[in-house]
Amino acid sequence: MRETLIRHSSFVIYQSSFINHQSYMKLLLLGSGGREHALAWKIAQSPKIEKLYIAPGNAGTGTVGENVPLKADDFEGIKGFVLQKQIDIVVVGPEDPLVKGIYDFFRDDAQLKNIPVIGPSKAGAELEGSKDFAKGFMQRHGIPTAAYQTFDGNSLEAGLTFLETLQPPYVLKADGLCAGKGVLILPTLDEAKKELKEMLGGMFGQASARVVIEEFLSGIECSVFVLTDGKDYKILPEAKDYKRIGEGDTGLNTGGMGSVSPVPFANKEWMQKVENRIIRPTVEGLAAEGLDYKGFIFFGLINCDGEPKVIEYNCRMGDPETETVMLRIKSDLVDLLEGVAEGNLAQRTITFDDRSAVCVMLVSGGYPGHYEKGKVMSVNEAALSADSVVFHAGTARNAEGQLVTAGGRVIAVSSYGRDKAEALARSFAGAQQIQFEGSYFRRDIGSDL
Ligand code: AMP
Ligand code: GLY
Repeated sequence: MRETLIRHSSFVIYQSSFINHQSYMKLLLLGSGGREHALAWKIAQSPKIEKLYIAPGNAGTGTVGENVPLKADDFEGIKGFVLQKQIDIVVVGPEDPLVKGIYDFFRDDAQLKNIPVIGPSKAGAELEGSKDFAKGFMQRHGIPTAAYQTFDGNSLEAGLTFLETLQPPYVLKADGLCAGKGVLILPTLDEAKKELKEMLGGMFGQASARVVIEEFLSGIECSVFVLTDGKDYKILPEAKDYKRIGEGDTGLNTGGMGSVSPVPFANKEWMQKVENRIIRPTVEGLAAEGLDYKGFIFFGLINCDGEPKVIEYNCRMGDPETETVMLRIKSDLVDLLEGVAEGNLAQRTITFDDRSAVCVMLVSGGYPGHYEKGKVMSVNEAALSADSVVFHAGTARNAEGQLVTAGGRVIAVSSYGRDKAEALARSFAGAQQIQFEGSYFRRDIGSDL
């Protein structure tokens, strides 16, 4: 059964409250990227939603909810807003507020403690916040991942010796958060040794005070997501993202140039392995270690000759994977979030849309290097396929109210199709309907699968 895409939130909310008189939930979503626009788009379609706020949001989220000028890590500001507007539930988009402990801030505050935050505690967020913690966790629970050792300034010599025992290429990971820049893959032993010294010498500040050195794994990557209430979990549609700036996966890493869902090799048999060997041991391991975790878990996986292994954990949804995953969730996302908040996720159901979904990201000229902001944009929505939806990432309104670029990754066109090819054709055609000086997008998204 095909569903019509509804692009105008005011219409969605009107229609929802018309059909269902039980819109009661005031939800605050934190974040400002394409991921948050996609989450907001899906949340706004729920009949349970009375009011959706996004802090700080972007020009796109402002069309499906109300933007609030608060930073996602301004905990005191968020507290004031949540109390003033009587917010029922807070959903956290990016990792930063989670790693800084927004869940704990709410839990430990007398006025906020009954307002659920969808996202892990500070201790649970260490799955993303510390590579060393994540590797140790996987080792303790028998979860398949690359062999590794961790070194610090006092064990530099041992680290250099360990590198000599490995085969190239060499994988060095700063322990802490580095805005996606903390992983180096080096082709030669000399470069690996040099970079290890620099990382431990403060290349990424405190984040690289410890460095994980691990075995290089080769295979195709796949992102798998679950929502958990700490006891049970629901597996969301999987996706593959495209990280490099250039076609054919060349050039520098970016925040993500596109994504596709489903991923052909993530068939029933493979996903069963993922669930048995990775997802269930992770959720059970968190509970066994007393780590409070009620939110999304992102498993960055790699398919090594048919066997899934974990490359990384993130404590949030992926970007730009969310821009396809949200299209493929047919059921009410808010019902699932409520299940997490109430600890009865097992009683909720998730259904998938059988169609394919893809996302093509338009970026600023020069990105991921130097680029300019403030370029006036035109988006010809009327010319887009009814099966496409535009998600804003780095956009804003200037003083004259014009839509302008405000980041490296600017705007995405996500589309449905009966298959990947049809969805891609719609997104590439849609991308041509968006103009700004210097814009660029990859025309080979999904072509490797
Ligand atoms: P991470 O931040 O851990 O996701 O690493 C960034 C990227 O580096 C991953 O998406 C992979 O493409 C690559 N990578 C990380 N660890 C490994 C590994 N052990 N073997 C091969 N590639 C890796
Ligand atoms: N797409 C990878 C990430 O969100 O980290």
